[in-house]
Amino acid sequence: MITVLAPATSANCSIGFDCLGLALDWKSKIYFEQADEHLITGCPAQYCTQDNLVLSSYLKTCEYAKVDPKKVHIHIDSDIPFARGLGSSSQCIVAGVLGADALMNLHLSDEQKLEVACQIEGHPDNVAPALFGGLIVCANHHDHLIKVKFPAGGWKALVVIPNYEVSTQEARKVLPTTLERNEVVQQVSHAMLFEYAWVHEQEELLKEVCHDFIHEPYRAKLIADYQKIRDLADQYGVPFWISGSGSTMALISQDLTKLNTIQAIIESFNSRLDCRVLNVCNTGAEVIYG
Ligand code: HSE
Repeated sequence: MITVLAPATSANCSIGFDCLGLALDWKSKIYFEQADEHLITGCPAQYCTQDNLVLSSYLKTCEYAKVDPKKVHIHIDSDIPFARGLGSSSQCIVAGVLGADALMNLHLSDEQKLEVACQIEGHPDNVAPALFGGLIVCANHHDHLIKVKFPAGGWKALVVIPNYEVSTQEARKVLPTTLERNEVVQQVSHAMLFEYAWVHEQEELLKEVCHDFIHEPYRAKLIADYQKIRDLADQYGVPFWISGSGSTMALISQDLTKLNTIQAIIESFNSRLDCRVLNVCNTGAEVIYG
């Protein structure tokens, strides 16, 4: 038996569309055991099929490594909600990649794990933090991915999870296909300052530079509670972003008391929003044998 523990993630982190992501300390457990036939258990019935994302990622990893896959029983134990921008798909993909690597003795390098996970997901900003933890920036450079990890520092996230979904596919359709030059300059300068503020733990600066031009202005209208939560973040002076493609919103701070205060306010006025304060997860997905 092999168990993969994979963290939730918050992708984009405001100004890092498709290239920046954060691992959060909220983990799913995915169990792999050799079996006579492929079998999925533990998740809602509509996902217990041969199209299951953990299984298809396991099979694609075997194909990538050019080995014949063993049949597996996969059991998924997860309470991370689907289609809310917390990386539930990436957890499945990363579990499939690491499950195949462990069960088939593939000995894939970190770069190969990231490569196959990105081939499946299409972009690295969820799979990279799920694999390696922390805050990770990735750049596609001459057909290979460069990744750099920034430490968690004292940052914490209040994730505000609506009880309604936003499909990533739909949320990508509302994005502009081109940007004006001044918008590109703004985005790049804010992204550089973001890394500085994160590493030097400067919360006020981080709040100022969480100002995105690529996706947030377009996706805000897909999230009914966006403005209320954005206003609260502004009122308390904490950095804010739409987590992944939504619907979850993340408020980031080093001040736990402040995050707890905001959580209590949100819980008092809106029952369709589930709030959790999470630490940044500085380690990525882990494999436990036996
Ligand atoms: N970067 C992706 C997006 C994250 O915002 O569409 C969701 O998969």
